[in-house]
Amino acid sequence: MKGIILAGGMGTRLRPLTLITNKHLLPVYNKPMILYPIETLRQSGISEIMLVCGREHAGDFINFLGSGKEYGVKLAYAVQDKNNGGIADALAYAEDFSDGDSVAVILGDNIFEDSFRGSVKSFKAGARVFLKKVKDPQRYGVPVFDKKDKKIIKIEEKPENPKSHYALTGFYLVDNDIFSFIKKLKPSKRGELEMTDALNHYVEMGKTSFSIVNGQWYDTGTIDSLLESALQIKKKISEKN
Ligand code: G1P
Repeated sequence: MKGIILAGGMGTRLRPLTLITNKHLLPVYNKPMILYPIETLRQSGISEIMLVCGREHAGDFINFLGSGKEYGVKLAYAVQDKNNGGIADALAYAEDFSDGDSVAVILGDNIFEDSFRGSVKSFKAGARVFLKKVKDPQRYGVPVFDKKDKKIIKIEEKPENPKSHYALTGFYLVDNDIFSFIKKLKPSKRGELEMTDALNHYVEMGKTSFSIVNGQWYDTGTIDSLLESALQIKKKISEKN
């Protein structure tokens, strides 16, 4: 399976840091953020990766990562014309790269302790999403479950009144239908094409499965979460040494 890292966006919640460079090139403890999702894909058994980034700092990504060889992967690049097009808009740029197959998609600001090797190996069709219990579900995509908590019946993006305590993390396994679903999307309240809306097409067809993420997960998209994730990673590294 091929992997796609979505590393566009304006990083408005990280200003003024993101006035200097792209969010995904900012440090998280001892390395630039973008190396974490590359490592997650690599550890999940995925080495052919397309990085979709915004045009302003595209050159910096290429300067830093090159072919990806140094990091054990083979990188291709796509440039998203509109910085504020949204996650699903960024993913659309990888359609040709996907070559009709299922893909693993990871958001460039998501850091996972564990890999997804087992799920990648066994994935067949539809969509598989990866959930984590959180204290502040309002910040995320949130699944709504059926009465037995067995099936996802809807996903709500940043709901004011979340119907579960789970967040959708930024790792998704999807079959190639995702690209036709994206073409049907309309911009959300924040003016972006949302991955959540694209995934809801699978939900409506009863084709969405889920797993709970083991180990730590960080979305580093805010000043506080960027600092918190760096501190936690520092702790983990010093515990190992
Ligand atoms: C995005 C997704 C959201 C998901 C989150 C995970 O939010 O829209 O559904 O829960 O990533 O990191 P954003 O970071 O764009 O606000």
